[in-house]
Amino acid sequence: MVTTKNETAQASAATENPLESNGLYPNPEELFVKDEIHWDTLKNLVGQSILSVNQFDKKLVLEVCKLAALLEATNIAECHPLDGKIVITAFFEASTRTRLSFESAVLRLDGKIISIPEGRVTGVAKGESLADIGEMFNAYGDLVVMRHTETDAVKEIRRNLRLPLINAGNGSGEHPTQALADWFAILKWKPRLKEEVVVPRHQIHLGILGTPGSMRAVNSFLRMSLLFKNGIRKISIISEMADPLGPELQEMLANSNVEYYLTNDIEEVVADLDVVYMNSIAFLGDSYRAMDSRFRLDAKSDLKKDAVVLHPLARLDELDPTLDGTHHNLYFTQAHGAVFIRQALMICVLNRFERLPKEKMPHSN
Ligand code: CP
Repeated sequence: MVTTKNETAQASAATENPLESNGLYPNPEELFVKDEIHWDTLKNLVGQSILSVNQFDKKLVLEVCKLAALLEATNIAECHPLDGKIVITAFFEASTRTRLSFESAVLRLDGKIISIPEGRVTGVAKGESLADIGEMFNAYGDLVVMRHTETDAVKEIRRNLRLPLINAGNGSGEHPTQALADWFAILKWKPRLKEEVVVPRHQIHLGILGTPGSMRAVNSFLRMSLLFKNGIRKISIISEMADPLGPELQEMLANSNVEYYLTNDIEEVVADLDVVYMNSIAFLGDSYRAMDSRFRLDAKSDLKKDAVVLHPLARLDELDPTLDGTHHNLYFTQAHGAVFIRQALMICVLNRFERLPKEKMPHSN
Protein backbone atom coordinates (compact mmCIF):
# COMPACT_ATOMS: atom_id res chain seq x y z
CA MET A 1 0.00 0.00 0.00
CA VAL A 2 1.39 3.36 -0.99
CA THR A 3 0.14 6.78 -0.05
CA THR A 4 0.99 10.40 -0.42
CA LYS A 5 0.79 12.70 2.57
CA ASN A 6 -2.71 13.82 1.64
CA GLU A 7 -3.92 10.31 1.05
CA THR A 8 -2.52 8.92 4.31
CA ALA A 9 -5.52 9.79 6.44
CA GLN A 10 -7.85 8.00 4.05
CA ALA A 11 -5.91 4.78 3.54
CA SER A 12 -6.27 2.44 6.48
CA ALA A 13 -3.43 0.06 5.51
CA ALA A 14 -0.98 2.86 4.91
CA THR A 15 2.08 3.52 7.00
CA GLU A 16 1.81 6.58 9.11
CA ASN A 17 4.31 9.08 7.83
CA PRO A 18 5.99 10.37 10.98
CA LEU A 19 8.08 12.87 9.06
CA GLU A 20 5.07 14.43 7.37
CA SER A 21 7.18 14.75 4.25
CA ASN A 22 5.69 14.91 0.82
CA GLY A 23 5.63 11.94 -1.47
CA LEU A 24 4.96 8.23 -1.20
CA TYR A 25 5.38 6.31 2.05
CA PRO A 26 5.05 2.58 1.34
CA ASN A 27 4.45 0.33 4.31
CA PRO A 28 7.72 -1.43 5.33
CA GLU A 29 5.79 -4.32 6.90
CA GLU A 30 5.03 -5.66 3.44
CA LEU A 31 8.66 -6.76 3.26
CA PHE A 32 8.99 -8.89 6.36
CA VAL A 33 5.63 -9.88 7.83
CA LYS A 34 4.89 -12.74 5.45
CA ASP A 35 8.48 -13.56 4.62
CA GLU A 36 10.73 -14.67 7.45
CA ILE A 37 14.13 -13.06 7.91
CA HIS A 38 16.97 -15.50 7.25
CA TRP A 39 19.42 -14.59 9.97
CA ASP A 40 22.01 -17.08 8.74
CA THR A 41 22.28 -15.17 5.47
CA LEU A 42 22.75 -11.89 7.33
CA LYS A 43 25.41 -13.46 9.55
CA ASN A 44 27.62 -13.75 6.45
CA LEU A 45 28.17 -10.01 6.85
CA VAL A 46 29.72 -10.29 10.33
CA GLY A 47 33.13 -8.61 10.32
CA GLN A 48 32.94 -7.92 6.58
CA SER A 49 33.80 -4.71 4.76
CA ILE A 50 31.10 -3.39 2.41
CA LEU A 51 32.97 -2.07 -0.61
CA SER A 52 31.01 -2.92 -3.75
CA VAL A 53 27.61 -4.13 -4.91
CA ASN A 54 29.51 -7.07 -6.43
CA GLN A 55 29.67 -8.59 -2.92
CA PHE A 56 25.89 -8.97 -2.84
CA ASP A 57 23.57 -11.48 -4.38
CA LYS A 58 19.84 -10.96 -4.56
CA LYS A 59 19.18 -13.05 -1.44
CA LEU A 60 21.54 -10.95 0.69
CA VAL A 61 20.06 -7.67 -0.61
CA LEU A 62 16.60 -8.95 0.26
CA GLU A 63 17.58 -9.99 3.77
CA VAL A 64 19.24 -6.62 4.46
CA CYS A 65 16.10 -4.86 3.18
CA LYS A 66 13.87 -7.08 5.31
CA LEU A 67 15.90 -6.31 8.43
CA ALA A 68 15.82 -2.59 7.54
CA ALA A 69 12.04 -2.80 7.14
CA LEU A 70 11.77 -4.46 10.55
CA LEU A 71 13.89 -1.69 12.07
CA GLU A 72 11.74 0.93 10.38
CA ALA A 73 8.55 -0.62 11.72
CA THR A 74 9.79 -1.48 15.21
CA ASN A 75 11.19 0.65 17.98
CA ILE A 76 14.26 -1.29 19.07
CA ALA A 77 16.27 1.65 20.36
CA GLU A 78 15.51 0.61 23.93
CA CYS A 79 17.62 -2.54 23.36
CA HIS A 80 20.73 -0.43 22.62
CA PRO A 81 21.97 -2.68 19.78
CA LEU A 82 25.19 -0.75 19.15
CA ASP A 83 25.94 0.08 22.78
CA GLY A 84 29.70 0.01 23.39
CA LYS A 85 30.64 0.29 19.70
CA ILE A 86 32.45 3.27 18.17
CA VAL A 87 31.93 4.06 14.50
CA ILE A 88 34.42 6.33 12.72
CA THR A 89 32.79 8.36 9.94
CA ALA A 90 35.67 9.62 7.80
CA PHE A 91 34.44 11.90 5.05
CA PHE A 92 37.11 13.33 2.77
CA GLU A 93 34.43 14.63 0.39
CA ALA A 94 31.25 16.64 0.95
CA SER A 95 28.08 14.86 2.06
CA THR A 96 24.72 15.77 3.51
CA ARG A 97 22.83 12.48 3.57
CA THR A 98 25.37 9.71 3.80
CA ARG A 99 27.40 10.97 6.74
CA LEU A 100 24.45 12.24 8.72
CA SER A 101 22.27 9.19 8.06
CA PHE A 102 25.09 6.87 9.18
CA GLU A 103 25.61 8.99 12.28
CA SER A 104 21.90 9.15 13.00
CA ALA A 105 21.70 5.38 12.51
CA VAL A 106 24.49 4.80 15.05
CA LEU A 107 23.24 7.29 17.63
CA ARG A 108 19.68 5.98 17.47
CA LEU A 109 21.04 2.51 18.31
CA ASP A 110 23.16 3.88 21.16
CA GLY A 111 26.52 3.52 19.51
CA LYS A 112 29.11 6.31 19.55
CA ILE A 113 30.59 8.33 16.72
CA ILE A 114 33.97 9.86 15.95
CA SER A 115 33.59 12.00 12.85
CA ILE A 116 35.85 13.55 10.27
CA PRO A 117 33.57 15.93 8.36
CA GLU A 118 36.25 16.88 5.84
CA GLY A 119 39.79 15.79 5.02
CA ARG A 120 41.36 19.15 5.82
CA VAL A 121 40.90 18.61 9.55
CA THR A 122 43.15 15.51 9.47
CA GLY A 123 46.85 15.00 8.89
CA VAL A 124 46.04 14.91 5.16
CA ALA A 125 46.46 18.70 5.36
CA LYS A 126 50.09 18.04 6.39
CA GLY A 127 50.67 15.39 3.76
CA GLU A 128 49.83 12.29 5.82
CA SER A 129 48.99 9.20 3.80
CA LEU A 130 45.63 7.45 3.93
CA ALA A 131 47.43 4.21 4.73
CA ASP A 132 48.85 5.78 7.91
CA ILE A 133 45.43 7.16 8.84
CA GLY A 134 44.08 3.62 8.45
CA GLU A 135 46.66 2.30 10.89
CA MET A 136 45.53 4.92 13.44
CA PHE A 137 41.85 4.06 12.99
CA ASN A 138 42.57 0.50 14.17
CA ALA A 139 43.06 1.85 17.70
CA TYR A 140 40.16 4.31 17.73
CA GLY A 141 36.99 2.47 16.81
CA ASP A 142 35.19 -0.69 15.72
CA LEU A 143 34.01 0.20 12.19
CA VAL A 144 34.98 2.82 9.62
CA VAL A 145 32.60 4.49 7.18
CA MET A 146 34.61 6.38 4.56
CA ARG A 147 33.86 8.66 1.63
CA HIS A 148 36.70 9.91 -0.50
CA THR A 149 37.26 11.86 -3.70
CA GLU A 150 39.61 9.17 -5.05
CA THR A 151 38.42 5.83 -6.39
CA ASP A 152 41.61 4.18 -5.11
CA ALA A 153 41.14 5.49 -1.56
CA VAL A 154 39.43 2.26 -0.46
CA LYS A 155 42.44 0.22 -1.55
CA GLU A 156 44.85 2.72 0.00
CA ILE A 157 43.29 2.84 3.48
CA ARG A 158 42.91 -0.95 3.58
CA ARG A 159 46.68 -1.36 3.31
CA ASN A 160 46.76 -0.91 7.11
CA LEU A 161 43.14 -0.85 8.24
CA ARG A 162 42.05 -4.04 9.98
CA LEU A 163 38.59 -2.84 11.03
CA PRO A 164 35.61 -3.44 8.72
CA LEU A 165 35.21 -0.59 6.23
CA ILE A 166 31.96 0.61 4.67
CA ASN A 167 32.49 2.43 1.39
CA ALA A 168 30.31 5.54 1.50
CA GLY A 169 31.33 6.62 -2.02
CA ASN A 170 34.78 6.47 -3.58
CA GLY A 171 35.40 8.97 -6.36
CA SER A 172 33.71 7.76 -9.54
CA GLY A 173 33.74 4.18 -8.23
CA GLU A 174 30.82 2.88 -6.21
CA HIS A 175 28.28 3.77 -3.51
CA PRO A 176 26.95 0.38 -2.42
CA THR A 177 24.91 1.48 0.61
CA GLN A 178 23.14 4.02 -1.61
CA ALA A 179 22.13 1.20 -3.96
CA LEU A 180 20.73 -0.71 -0.96
CA ALA A 181 18.73 2.36 0.05
CA ASP A 182 17.51 2.70 -3.55
CA TRP A 183 16.29 -0.88 -3.77
CA PHE A 184 14.85 -0.71 -0.25
CA ALA A 185 12.58 2.09 -1.49
CA ILE A 186 11.68 0.20 -4.69
CA LEU A 187 10.89 -3.04 -2.85
CA LYS A 188 8.71 -1.25 -0.30
CA TRP A 189 6.88 0.34 -3.22
CA LYS A 190 6.50 -2.92 -5.18
CA PRO A 191 7.29 -5.95 -2.97
CA ARG A 192 6.48 -8.40 -5.77
CA LEU A 193 9.72 -7.40 -7.51
CA LYS A 194 11.54 -9.59 -5.00
CA GLU A 195 9.94 -12.73 -6.38
CA GLU A 196 11.82 -15.13 -8.63
CA VAL A 197 8.99 -15.06 -11.14
CA VAL A 198 7.41 -11.72 -11.98
CA VAL A 199 4.74 -11.90 -14.65
CA PRO A 200 5.32 -9.53 -17.60
CA ARG A 201 2.49 -7.14 -16.68
CA HIS A 202 4.18 -6.49 -13.31
CA GLN A 203 7.69 -6.11 -14.67
CA ILE A 204 9.06 -2.58 -14.73
CA HIS A 205 10.66 -0.42 -17.38
CA LEU A 206 13.55 1.22 -15.55
CA GLY A 207 14.88 4.54 -16.82
CA ILE A 208 18.29 5.70 -15.64
CA LEU A 209 19.28 9.31 -16.23
CA GLY A 210 23.00 9.72 -15.94
CA THR A 211 26.24 8.01 -16.81
CA PRO A 212 26.70 4.77 -14.87
CA GLY A 213 30.30 4.56 -16.07
CA SER A 214 31.31 7.72 -14.19
CA MET A 215 28.61 8.37 -11.58
CA ARG A 216 29.14 6.12 -8.56
CA ALA A 217 25.53 6.08 -7.29
CA VAL A 218 24.21 5.22 -10.76
CA ASN A 219 26.93 2.63 -11.22
CA SER A 220 26.00 0.84 -7.99
CA PHE A 221 22.28 1.18 -8.69
CA LEU A 222 22.63 -0.42 -12.13
CA ARG A 223 24.70 -3.30 -10.73
CA MET A 224 22.11 -3.97 -8.03
CA SER A 225 19.22 -3.63 -10.50
CA LEU A 226 20.64 -6.52 -12.50
CA LEU A 227 20.18 -8.74 -9.42
CA PHE A 228 16.45 -8.05 -9.78
CA LYS A 229 16.39 -8.62 -13.52
CA ASN A 230 13.43 -11.01 -13.27
CA GLY A 231 11.28 -8.00 -12.40
CA ILE A 232 12.68 -5.76 -15.13
CA ARG A 233 11.14 -5.59 -18.58
CA LYS A 234 13.63 -3.11 -19.98
CA ILE A 235 16.34 -0.67 -18.91
CA SER A 236 16.66 2.65 -20.74
CA ILE A 237 19.76 4.70 -20.08
CA ILE A 238 19.31 8.36 -20.87
CA SER A 239 22.60 10.18 -21.09
CA GLU A 240 24.31 12.93 -23.00
CA MET A 241 27.42 10.74 -23.25
CA ALA A 242 28.03 8.61 -26.34
CA ASP A 243 29.26 5.73 -24.13
CA PRO A 244 27.59 6.13 -20.73
CA LEU A 245 28.41 2.60 -19.54
CA GLY A 246 32.05 1.81 -20.11
CA PRO A 247 33.21 -1.72 -20.96
CA GLU A 248 32.53 -3.51 -17.65
CA LEU A 249 28.93 -2.35 -17.21
CA GLN A 250 28.28 -2.83 -20.92
CA GLU A 251 29.35 -6.45 -20.60
CA MET A 252 27.28 -6.98 -17.44
CA LEU A 253 24.19 -5.61 -19.15
CA ALA A 254 24.77 -7.66 -22.27
CA ASN A 255 25.25 -10.85 -20.22
CA SER A 256 22.14 -10.18 -18.15
CA ASN A 257 19.84 -10.67 -21.14
CA VAL A 258 17.76 -7.70 -19.95
CA GLU A 259 16.63 -5.62 -22.90
CA TYR A 260 18.37 -2.25 -22.77
CA TYR A 261 18.28 0.91 -24.77
CA LEU A 262 20.58 3.94 -24.88
CA THR A 263 19.25 7.37 -25.78
CA ASN A 264 20.05 11.03 -25.23
CA ASP A 265 16.42 12.07 -25.45
CA ILE A 266 14.28 11.63 -22.33
CA GLU A 267 11.13 12.47 -24.30
CA GLU A 268 11.60 9.30 -26.30
CA VAL A 269 11.04 7.02 -23.31
CA VAL A 270 9.60 8.96 -20.38
CA ALA A 271 5.94 8.03 -20.99
CA ASP A 272 6.75 4.29 -20.79
CA LEU A 273 8.91 4.32 -17.65
CA ASP A 274 7.73 2.81 -14.36
CA VAL A 275 10.78 3.86 -12.36
CA VAL A 276 12.93 6.87 -13.23
CA TYR A 277 16.32 6.95 -11.49
CA MET A 278 17.83 10.39 -11.77
CA ASN A 279 21.23 11.76 -10.96
CA SER A 280 22.96 14.79 -12.30
CA ILE A 281 26.29 15.26 -10.62
CA ALA A 282 29.40 13.49 -11.84
CA PHE A 283 32.48 13.71 -9.67
CA LEU A 284 35.58 14.22 -11.76
CA GLY A 285 38.33 13.89 -9.17
CA ASP A 286 38.76 17.55 -8.35
CA SER A 287 35.47 19.06 -9.47
CA TYR A 288 31.83 18.29 -10.15
CA ARG A 289 30.08 18.35 -13.48
CA ALA A 290 26.32 18.74 -13.69
CA MET A 291 24.37 16.98 -16.39
CA ASP A 292 22.92 18.86 -19.28
CA SER A 293 19.84 20.90 -18.28
CA ARG A 294 17.81 19.17 -21.04
CA PHE A 295 17.39 16.19 -18.70
CA ARG A 296 14.74 17.65 -16.43
CA LEU A 297 11.59 16.31 -14.84
CA ASP A 298 8.81 18.35 -13.27
CA ALA A 299 5.16 17.87 -12.35
CA LYS A 300 4.17 18.51 -15.96
CA SER A 301 6.44 15.83 -17.41
CA ASP A 302 4.75 13.08 -19.36
CA LEU A 303 5.16 10.48 -16.59
CA LYS A 304 2.94 7.41 -16.37
CA LYS A 305 0.24 7.78 -13.73
CA ASP A 306 1.92 5.27 -11.38
CA ALA A 307 5.55 5.97 -12.24
CA VAL A 308 7.92 6.73 -9.37
CA VAL A 309 11.02 8.87 -9.37
CA LEU A 310 14.19 8.10 -7.43
CA HIS A 311 17.17 10.39 -6.94
CA PRO A 312 20.11 9.81 -4.59
CA LEU A 313 20.30 13.60 -4.14
CA ALA A 314 21.78 16.25 -3.98
CA ARG A 315 19.63 17.59 -6.79
CA LEU A 316 20.17 20.49 -9.11
CA ASP A 317 17.73 21.72 -11.77
CA GLU A 318 16.99 18.26 -13.17
CA LEU A 319 14.46 17.36 -10.45
CA ASP A 320 11.98 20.14 -10.04
CA PRO A 321 10.47 20.68 -6.56
CA THR A 322 7.00 20.69 -8.17
CA LEU A 323 7.35 16.89 -8.13
CA ASP A 324 7.86 16.81 -4.35
CA GLY A 325 4.16 16.94 -3.52
CA THR A 326 3.15 14.30 -6.06
CA HIS A 327 2.78 10.53 -5.81
CA HIS A 328 5.76 10.21 -8.18
CA ASN A 329 8.06 11.24 -5.34
CA LEU A 330 9.76 8.15 -3.95
CA TYR A 331 13.02 10.05 -3.42
CA PHE A 332 12.21 11.30 0.06
CA THR A 333 11.34 7.76 1.20
CA GLN A 334 14.58 6.63 -0.48
CA ALA A 335 16.60 9.17 1.52
CA HIS A 336 14.81 8.58 4.83
CA GLY A 337 14.96 4.79 4.52
CA ALA A 338 18.74 4.96 4.23
CA VAL A 339 18.96 5.31 8.02
CA PHE A 340 17.38 1.86 8.49
CA ILE A 341 19.49 0.24 5.75
CA ARG A 342 22.61 1.57 7.44
CA GLN A 343 21.40 0.42 10.85
CA ALA A 344 20.77 -3.06 9.43
CA LEU A 345 24.24 -3.21 7.88
CA MET A 346 26.00 -2.09 11.06
CA ILE A 347 24.05 -4.54 13.24
CA CYS A 348 25.21 -7.31 10.87
CA VAL A 349 28.83 -6.21 10.43
CA LEU A 350 29.23 -5.63 14.19
CA ASN A 351 27.42 -8.90 15.02
CA ARG A 352 24.81 -7.34 17.30
CA PHE A 353 22.00 -9.77 16.44
CA GLU A 354 21.75 -10.90 20.06
CA ARG A 355 20.82 -7.37 21.10
CA LEU A 356 17.67 -7.35 18.97
CA PRO A 357 14.53 -7.87 21.06
CA LYS A 358 13.43 -11.47 20.53
CA GLU A 359 9.79 -10.71 21.27
CA LYS A 360 9.74 -8.26 18.37
CA MET A 361 11.46 -10.58 15.93
CA PRO A 362 8.95 -12.30 13.70
CA HIS A 363 9.84 -15.88 12.79
CA SER A 364 13.15 -15.88 14.68
CA ASN A 365 15.30 -18.86 13.71
N1 CP B 1 23.18 10.28 -1.74
C1 CP B 1 24.32 10.83 -1.31
O1 CP B 1 25.39 10.23 -1.41
O2 CP B 1 24.16 12.07 -0.77
P1 CP B 1 25.30 12.87 -0.03
O3 CP B 1 26.33 13.25 -1.07
O4 CP B 1 24.63 14.06 0.56
O5 CP B 1 25.91 11.99 1.01
